[in-house]
Amino acid sequence: MDELLEKLIEEHHLSREEWRALLARRRSLDKALLFGRAEAERRRWYGDAIYVRGLIECTNICKNNCLYCGIRRGNPAVSRYRLERDTILDCCARGYEWGFRTFVLQGGEDPGLSPDQIAEWVGAIKANWPDCAVTLSLGECERSVYQLWFDAGADRYLLRHETADAAHYAMLHPPEMALGHRLDCLRTLKEIGYQVGAGFMVGSPGQTPDTLAADFCFLQEFQPHMVGIGPFIPQKDTPFGGETAGTLEDTLILLALVRLLLPRVLLPATTALGTIHPQGRELGIKAGANVVMPNLSPPATREKYTLYDHKLCTGEEAAEHLAGLKRRLASIGCTVAVHRGDFPGN
Ligand code: 5AD
Repeated sequence: MDELLEKLIEEHHLSREEWRALLARRRSLDKALLFGRAEAERRRWYGDAIYVRGLIECTNICKNNCLYCGIRRGNPAVSRYRLERDTILDCCARGYEWGFRTFVLQGGEDPGLSPDQIAEWVGAIKANWPDCAVTLSLGECERSVYQLWFDAGADRYLLRHETADAAHYAMLHPPEMALGHRLDCLRTLKEIGYQVGAGFMVGSPGQTPDTLAADFCFLQEFQPHMVGIGPFIPQKDTPFGGETAGTLEDTLILLALVRLLLPRVLLPATTALGTIHPQGRELGIKAGANVVMPNLSPPATREKYTLYDHKLCTGEEAAEHLAGLKRRLASIGCTVAVHRGDFPGN
């Protein structure tokens, strides 16, 4: 076996130099072995259970202008929407019936949505469905706002770091955004007591073994409870519309390496992975992922939440097709867990 891969499996820690070397040769690793070890690690902690989360895309209005993102402020081609409180609660009610016990409220950084409004949504969800977890994914905020939402009952927060290399971060974002602030937000979320998710896109413009080594060193040091990793997919109305997408193979390799670094991590096989390959999600699970996040948003708004082109939104990644998802998971020896699906231990 590759000597650095063996060290990773045994020690769950590599130096920056070792990460750089392993990541530089990642495509020539024995993939059957890599994915097999990652899947075994997943089964050691989770058995055959796959955790599901119902994703509710509450707003596609965003004050930021990230160069890769389809809902960036500077994209006039997007038809903007913000869901009503009762629409969100209806999504949760339907999701609960289907077996979802975690709801993820995700959205752009929408200046028209007040922190108090969001706290009220969280409180209402927790009051109606006390056995459910609420995950928020609403971008960078002040500590007081994160605290307000935590006190209202929010359990988890997803905020991908996007890249842990400052120069790469500056290639992906406009000058008013900075890596340091993003990492401060992640640390604050953890201090408050959230289960926290970091993560990055695979194959984003400017990504190199060097920037990936920074990502893995950051994950190793920060020890997030969740890691969101999916391929970069160009969106035609953005500055990166002409760039090439991240690949299935690369995403699977990096998912497996994250599983081996952080054995208990909650690791989704993302919609973006399902978008670049018809079996993307199953392949992600076979490479160590243990979470899927079907779309619970009202069907009419799903096509407006266009982070990237050709986003899947009506097939088996949609929450109403949970039966189909269960069948596909059964074919790879997995079952859907009907519980909150918290990070184990701690
Ligand atoms: N391709 C893939 N993922 C994207 N995201 C944003 N734009 C794209 C894109 N073009 C991801 C970012 C963000 C998450 C919500 O979606 O990593 O954190």
